[in-house]
Formats: sequence, structure tokens, C-alpha cells
Amino acid sequence: MMEGLRSGDVTLLLLLLLLTCVRCAAAGDKLRNIILILTDDQDVHLGGMTPMKKAKSLIGEAGATFVNSFTVTPLCCPSRSSILTGQYPHNHEVRNNSVSGNCSSPQWQSGPEASAFPVYLSKQKYQTFYAGKYLNQYGKKDGGDVGHVPPGWDQWHALMGNSQYYNYTLSVNGKEQKHGDSYEADYLTDLITNRSLKFLDDRSPQHPFFLMLSPPAPHSPWTAAPKYQKEFSNVKAPRDGSFDKPGKDKHWLLRQPVNPMPESSLDFLDNAYRKRWQTLLSVDDMVELLVKKLESIKELDNTYIFYTSDNGYHTGQFSLPIDKRQLYEFDIRVPLMVRGPGIKPNQTLQAPVLNIDLAPTILDISGVNLSTVNVDGQSFLSQMAPSLRNGTTRPYFLVEYNGEGQPTKDPACPKLGPGLSQCFPDCVCEDAFNNTYACVRTLDSKNNLQYCEFADNESFVEVYNLTSDPHQLENIVKKVDPAVLQAMNQRLIKLQSCQGDSCRDTKQR
Ligand SMILES: *[C@@H]1O[C@H](CO)[C@@H](O)[C@H](O)[C@H]1NC(C)=O
Ligand SMILES: *[C@@H]1O[C@H](CO)[C@@H](O)[C@H](O)[C@H]1NC(C)=O
Ligand SMILES: *[C@@H]1O[C@H](CO)[C@@H](O)[C@H](O)[C@H]1NC(C)=O
Ligand SMILES: *[C@@H]1O[C@H](CO)[C@@H](O)[C@H](O)[C@H]1NC(C)=O
Ligand SMILES: *[C@@H]1O[C@H](CO)[C@@H](O)[C@H](O)[C@H]1NC(C)=O
Repeated sequence: MMEGLRSGDVTLLLLLLLLTCVRCAAAGDKLRNIILILTDDQDVHLGGMTPMKKAKSLIGEAGATFVNSFTVTPLCCPSRSSILTGQYPHNHEVRNNSVSGNCSSPQWQSGPEASAFPVYLSKQKYQTFYAGKYLNQYGKKDGGDVGHVPPGWDQWHALMGNSQYYNYTLSVNGKEQKHGDSYEADYLTDLITNRSLKFLDDRSPQHPFFLMLSPPAPHSPWTAAPKYQKEFSNVKAPRDGSFDKPGKDKHWLLRQPVNPMPESSLDFLDNAYRKRWQTLLSVDDMVELLVKKLESIKELDNTYIFYTSDNGYHTGQFSLPIDKRQLYEFDIRVPLMVRGPGIKPNQTLQAPVLNIDLAPTILDISGVNLSTVNVDGQSFLSQMAPSLRNGTTRPYFLVEYNGEGQPTKDPACPKLGPGLSQCFPDCVCEDAFNNTYACVRTLDSKNNLQYCEFADNESFVEVYNLTSDPHQLENIVKKVDPAVLQAMNQRLIKLQSCQGDSCRDTKQR
């Protein structure tokens, strides 16, 4: 057939082919590889990204850093469920870290998990790979056992239960695999790295790949690799902002900590802060090794890499020693950096993005028509790479949380009543059944406000002007015009039952 063509035709043909290719690259028609790195409890507000030198250079400086990235709920299992489904907790109905609160429950498995974003990627012929912590109850007897491999995953190396570094059990494609405490053979962060590198070596070049890597770092028990256990020996938790400030105008849980904190709490939280950073150095190595591997298999320029965490963390803010679960910036802000095709290097992006936006963004990249997917979030691909899609903004969003408690008294803290949890160190409680709240957050060039209502017996309300009071030291509920409070209350009520479009449609609010 080529023989019959004149040279002009050949030139035309080449030109057409060239044009098609330029178009496909510009419009993102070519299927791109995607990697999502999800750390456990890594804050961005209190220096949690400081130890990540390589990740910041290889992802952030090579792409976009979102400085206003939030979780819609500051606790592992509900947040991870939001990441997987692109939905607010009131829609996926995972309320806490227990099976009774739908963490990896049979209802979750037959419902939201069966249409989570990996299922769509698999339909798009992605080769999919999971390694690391999944959901806190995953693999346990009433959480479906290790035999349960969620749909959409071709390779599955998921941790049973909550984050650990040694002495854990994995589900390797549905088969139990027990690990001991040899650094060389078992250190979980390194094992995730090694298995992902092997997956990349063994992949079939015909299909794009998706990897989700969930290292335990920097979650407790904060066990660093031996080579990093001496790092940051002089580092202490930052003492500025709301550190050890009394939360006297806040809801009751924030009024109970001992203030100022005793020396023993300070030692405990400084030690935690330092060890958290040490554990992150192995995640930094993971990023470097992944980027090197992508380079060597010539896929680096064709791969999006997302780096984020499930929730933030605090160490001493408002005299709460250590944990997450609160509505304040330190717990709801998370790191987010993305590199990939079409994303200009070294961008700092201000637009607020949520963890429920990850699923639609990833599916957008993979070519799925988002109108066919049941998500509450929205793709932020256009914000990173304006050439790829039309941009949208979000004037306000919801943060919702169901307090966790223990029905019985804590034997270690006999003075405390039932209904509380996480009462350590020094019997300061970080959570309670009635630490249940919902907030509406406004964040644009004019407004930076937070309005929160508690489901406690005081119907407590907290309001912050984050522009004049970035550390949330003053609850301004009594100073705000009641009409404004009422408007925010109405907005909150609507968001608490939003679904899909109504979570994004600003005209309706
Ligand atoms: C768990 O999820 C199911 C549906 O998936 C829902 O009917 C149930 O109410 C949820 N449980 C809780 C405690 O929210
Ligand atoms: C792992 O388990 C073994 C056996 O129970 C125990 O001796 C060891 O201290 C544990 N290692 C860690 C790091 O917890
Ligand atoms: C990971 O691979 C490195 C390099 O081959 C090796 O030294 C290390 O022991 C491995 N670690 C784990 C936990 O597999
Ligand atoms: C990003 O910016 C930093 C600081 O401005 C600079 O040192 C670095 O070379 C830049 N990196 C890229 C990839 O442009
Ligand atoms: C989790 O949520 C369920 C359903 O609301 C509740 O019964 C259970 O007590 C909660 N778990 C904790 C630890 O609060």
C-alpha cells in the first residue's frame, strides 16, 4: 500500500500522525501511569514535611505543592475510606476505626469498596498494585479475614490491622504471610518499597500501572530503621502557635487537659515528634528509589506521583499531648504534592483541595468519564495542569467527625468516667463519644473562616477567623453577627446531607 503513495502523501500522512500525537499528549488521551503514596498520620502544619528532603525535591519541586490540602475527617479509617471512594463519611458511612463503625465491615465491602476508584482503574486496563496499611480492621476475623482482596487490585500486599513496623501479618493476594523483626527481611516501609520496585520490573509494558503505597510511617509505635535512630537528636516539638495554650473557650474536651503540661507529657511528645521524623526517612528513601526505578524503565515522564497523608497530627497543641481527631488546622491539614505530565515544576498552589478529590483526579487522569462515577469530590487535574481540563473552584467544604469512646472506665485513669478514649500520657483524653462535630470551612481570597457544631450536650459552637487568628486561639462565636452564624449553620446542614453534585454545587448553598 505504501508503494502506491506519492511523496506528498507520505508527508501528509506523517504530518497527520504527528498532529494526532501532539493532540493526544496535550489532551491527556494517552493512558498515564499513576502512583499514590499515602503516609499514616503525617502532619504538614507542625513540620511533618521537614525531614522529607528527597520527596520535596523529587515530587514537589518537580511538580505542584498544594498548600491548602485537607482531609474531610481527621482519623485513619474514615479518611482512607474517603480517599478510596471520593466520598464524605456521611455517604460511605465509615464512622470510626472499629468494625461496628464500618471500618472494613461486611457492609463496606459489599457497598462502597465494591465501587471504589481502583475498580474503575482496573476496567481501564490499569495493572494495579497495593502495598502497606489499608484500613485499620482489614484482615481481622470480623473485618473479612486476609482472604478478602478488594476488587480492582491485581497485586495485593496489605497489612492486617493498624500500622506496625515489625511482627505483622500481610495478606499477599489473599494468603496470610507472617513477618518477624529482622530489619533486612521485615521492616515494613522497606518491604513496601522493595515489592513496588519488583512490580515495576515485572510489569507488562502494554498497560499503564497504578501503585498505591501506604507505609506505616510516621504512625506509632514510631520504630525507625536502625540507621536512622540517631537522627534529629536535638529536635523538639515546636513551641509556637497553640502549643500548651489553654483551650478555655473551646468545647469541653479541650478544657480538660492539664495546663501547663507536666514535664512527663513534654518528654513523651518530644520523643514522639523526633521518632516520627526518623521513621519518615525511610519513606523519603522510598520516593527516591521509586523515581530512580521509573527513570531506568523510562516511565518517569509518563507517570503521575501523588504524595499525601490520611490526616494531620498534633504534639502539645492546646495541651493535648499527641494524636489527631480534632477540628484544628494541625489535624485536618495534610501534605499534598504531585508531579506528572503537564504539571509545571515548582508550583505552589493555593486552591483548597480535599482528600475526596484524589479519586476523581486519579480517574480523570485515567480517562474515566467522571459523570459516571459517584463521588462527592472533584478533579483537581486542571489546577495542576491548566492545559488539560477546565478549572473549577470550591468556596466552602465540610469536615465531619464521629467521636470515639470506650463504654467502660479506663483502669489506668480511675478518676475519669466512661465514654472517653486515648487518655495517655498523664490521663489526658484525646477523644470521646461526644467529640462528634461537623464544620464548614470557607477558604478563598476574601474569607478564611471555620464554623463548627458539636453533638454534645452543650451544642457547643466554635468559630475561627483564620486570617486574623491562624492558630485558632480565640473562639469568636460570641462576637460574630448572629445572622452570619445562622447562614453558616444553614450551609452546614445542607453540606451534611450533600451527595455528589450537591457537595460541589455552590449555587445551591
Ligand atoms: C454501615 O454501613 C451501612 C451501609 O453500608 C449502613 O447501613 C450502616 O448504618 C452503617 N453503620 C454505621 C454505624 O454508620
Ligand atoms: C517481635 O516478636 C518477638 C516474639 O514475640 C519479640 O521477641 C520481639 O521483641 C518483637 N519485636 C518487636 C520489634 O516488637
Ligand atoms: C529491601 O531491599 C534492599 C536492597 O536489596 C535490602 O537491603 C533490604 O534488606 C530489603 N528490605 C526488606 C524489608 O525487604
Ligand atoms: C525549584 O525552586 C527552587 C527554589 O526556588 C530551586 O532551587 C529549584 O532548582 C527549582 N527546581 C526546579 C525543578 O525548577
Ligand atoms: C464506632 O461506631 C459505632 C457505631 O456508631 C459505635 O457503636 C462504636 O462504639 C464506635 N467505636 C468507638 C471506639 O467509639
